[in-house]
Amino acid sequence: MARTTTAPTLQLNNGVTMPALGLGVFQSPPEETTAAVEAALRAGYRHIDTAAAYFNEREVGDAVRASGLDRSEVFLETKIWISDYGYDETLHGFEKSAGKLGVEQIDLLILHQALPSDFDRTLDAYRALETLLADGRVRAIGVSNFMVDHLTRLLDHASVVPAVNQIEQHPYFQQAEVQAFGERHGILAQAWSPIGGITFYRDSGHANALEDPVITEIASAHGKSPAQVMLRWGLQHGRSVIPKSTNPARIAENLDVFDFELSAEQLSALDGLETGKRGGPAPEDVTLETFGRDIPEA
Ligand code: A2P
Repeated sequence: MARTTTAPTLQLNNGVTMPALGLGVFQSPPEETTAAVEAALRAGYRHIDTAAAYFNEREVGDAVRASGLDRSEVFLETKIWISDYGYDETLHGFEKSAGKLGVEQIDLLILHQALPSDFDRTLDAYRALETLLADGRVRAIGVSNFMVDHLTRLLDHASVVPAVNQIEQHPYFQQAEVQAFGERHGILAQAWSPIGGITFYRDSGHANALEDPVITEIASAHGKSPAQVMLRWGLQHGRSVIPKSTNPARIAENLDVFDFELSAEQLSALDGLETGKRGGPAPEDVTLETFGRDIPEA
């Protein structure tokens, strides 16, 4: 029988524990998501990261129920989309997500983006997260794609320090400054596109980190794959990582990263791959006009 791995946990700033590695379902088509999450739970994943704007929360919930695992064994993270920002709107956004997931309580609820052009609305949305936390509807709250100035403005107003900031982080785009700012304030960095942002890079003519000679050489030295090396690098930098895959073999491969360790030299060789080029959208460009989309009712 195949060996089942489970990820070690990280402690969030409010004491809640979260598996360090989870399955990301960004760009998992709804019709493939249930099978992918089921495969992940079978392989030993206990943390799934989705979002209202991925339009696959219902399928994530179906897979958790089909797994037979107790609800308390699976850490569910989802995100409120910018179109649902504002205090009342975000409270309702929670109801939509919880309804689709089919759960009473969400483990980690985060704001998907800052709205730099309407930051007051972002602050109102965050205030709603604080209410949901106080009411026990969510176990932890956080943000995503917040840069240092967004975090600074948020901390000026918030009564609860976000537990997590989920940002694009891989060897080609590391956001060390955002992570360091978070570390100083107790905000855990969580890496999306942790294996090279190739979801975006594929079509944009960027290099593919999976083929990078520095990464492939380190991978060979450990008898591991390039994806596993990048995940291990992120974990050894103290991040949570949420690789996306809908392929059962790659889902299992991505969890199998807890039996080797990168040396200090290997970590710094990977650190040296920074390009300064992000793969995803620039957080400053996110506006309701360009990125607004209706999030359906549960
Ligand atoms: P697939 O779903 O077919 O496995 P990221 O999370 O960094 O954005 O990467 C996601 C992309 O990388 C998806 O296109 C996914 O495709 C692919 N992928 C996921 N795991 C691996 C792996 N271990 N090796 C190669 N490609 C992978």
